[in-house]
Amino acid sequence: MAERTGLKKGLTNYGDLEFSLFLRKAFIKGAGYTDEALDRPIIGIANTGSGFNPCHGNMPQLIEAVKRGVMLAGGIPIEFPTISIHESFSHPTSMFLRNLMSMDTEELIRAQPMDSVVLIGGCDKTVPAQLMGAASAGIPAIQLVTGSMLTGSHRGTRVGACTDCRRYWGHYRADEIDATEIADVNNQLVASVGTCSVMGTASTMACLGEALGIMLPGGASAPAVTADRTRIAEQTGTRAVAMIAAGMTPDRILTAQAFENALRVLLAIGGSTNGIIHLTAIAGRMGIRIDLDQVDVMSAETPVLVDLKPSGEHYMEDLHKAGGLTTVLRELRPLLHLDALTITGRTLGEELDAAPPPFSQNVVRSLSQPIYPRGGIAVLRGNLAPSGAIIKQSAAAPELMVHEGRAVVFENTQDMAERIDLPDLDVHADDVLVLKQIGPIGAPGMPEAGYIPIPKKLARQGVKDMVRISDGRMSGTAAGTIVVHVSPESACGGPLGLVRTGDRIELDVPERSISLLVEQAELEARARQLTSPEPDPTLRGYRKLYLESVLQADQGCDFDFLLPTEFTDSVPRSKPSST
Ligand code: FES
Repeated sequence: MAERTGLKKGLTNYGDLEFSLFLRKAFIKGAGYTDEALDRPIIGIANTGSGFNPCHGNMPQLIEAVKRGVMLAGGIPIEFPTISIHESFSHPTSMFLRNLMSMDTEELIRAQPMDSVVLIGGCDKTVPAQLMGAASAGIPAIQLVTGSMLTGSHRGTRVGACTDCRRYWGHYRADEIDATEIADVNNQLVASVGTCSVMGTASTMACLGEALGIMLPGGASAPAVTADRTRIAEQTGTRAVAMIAAGMTPDRILTAQAFENALRVLLAIGGSTNGIIHLTAIAGRMGIRIDLDQVDVMSAETPVLVDLKPSGEHYMEDLHKAGGLTTVLRELRPLLHLDALTITGRTLGEELDAAPPPFSQNVVRSLSQPIYPRGGIAVLRGNLAPSGAIIKQSAAAPELMVHEGRAVVFENTQDMAERIDLPDLDVHADDVLVLKQIGPIGAPGMPEAGYIPIPKKLARQGVKDMVRISDGRMSGTAAGTIVVHVSPESACGGPLGLVRTGDRIELDVPERSISLLVEQAELEARARQLTSPEPDPTLRGYRKLYLESVLQADQGCDFDFLLPTEFTDSVPRSKPSST
């Protein structure tokens, strides 16, 4: 039987397919559609607009433009709502909800009759959730992002969310600015709708979407409120129609080569550490394993080229004016798989050949004059992190990259909140702050609490950075010598749970090691003293599903039952196949 398309796809089961179609048509005609319209290819548009998500505040304009593009190409656009997640409006964390959004996206793509789908995301977890869902659903899919917010100005200084949020909050905690000024800053940090204006997780995932080839070239960088962003939306709608005839399904785009390209870009843009987790999760849905040790090999040969906060100085709108991700990809060309197919139907190399010529700009450096000589992210291993840990070395203090110090341990976020600002806290600038119980299971939801604040008594002495270690995450907008994603996490028996205040910890980023300088016999004795928490009889619903199914950070924090039965590929160690 010929494959059903358009309105005939995925009919509701009443035991009579023709009746199911008859009924479906009757209902949609209630919305005023004609038979002529309904005979066209259907392009679903995943609408993640929400009053609780200002990062998606331009959703109505984008949907209108996508629809225009779809109709210009002869398709019929039908939008549908999915879960929307904003970083600051998600309890306990947005990461806790990412997999729920991916399941929602996957099941609605599968359940509703559409021949291709436009995914409109933006805020940190939304793009990975949509790509994970679309990868599993398997129909032609194209990513569109809402775009970055504009920058604001505070007393003559340019500011933007959220590197400057943390910087000014640090000044406030150190009594360097007063309550009036911090309130003034609060009005200026987010100057428009759109995603955070630095190379945080949202900007990182936008760049990775383009690098993966599942977004139109040039689609990552245009700010939310620009004509460029609206034009990209229209072009995305047009392309979503053409992708149907071309059979442009995610398995043709999201290949091991594409993930290797995306990892190169992640390293070269000084991207968010969250990008590693999300790429691992999206690749996992395609049966592709990302090996952290391989990422580290790539990091050694991929310098940071993009001068954006938090690793550098500029903002996303500056990257757009500098030619967007194309400028980065052009520089990275010798390190990329140029024969990777993109959703345009052309390869990455063909797209770069067709791109506008380079011009003089000061945001993207050349390979020979990078902003940082190695990749932004380094992978650490050692007895404190047997399954790995991550540090954003490009945003860390150079003088702390090799450091041994005394551990000052906080058992969980509540313990930290209660004690970190106590005047009599026994802490010194060369200590190592350790925070437990903020991993995928521990908190739960792996909060971005890895950016442990500098204790107030030290902040007031002018201390700006310390070595900080946790099994949680940190915001892509944050900077500092911060070791995150320690795996396995403390809540499921990881060695981080054995650290006690007074232990010595050694961080050696050049050697890629993180070590707890305590005898193995002592650690084994401590492990025997640990008791497992009592099962919670009130556990129910999504929280129960999450706690019983979530994987560790090095496995992408996906749910175990959402992965395919086996991995069939991995990010290759081979050199690029064409240059
Ligand atoms: Fe949405 Fe930063 S809070 S992108």
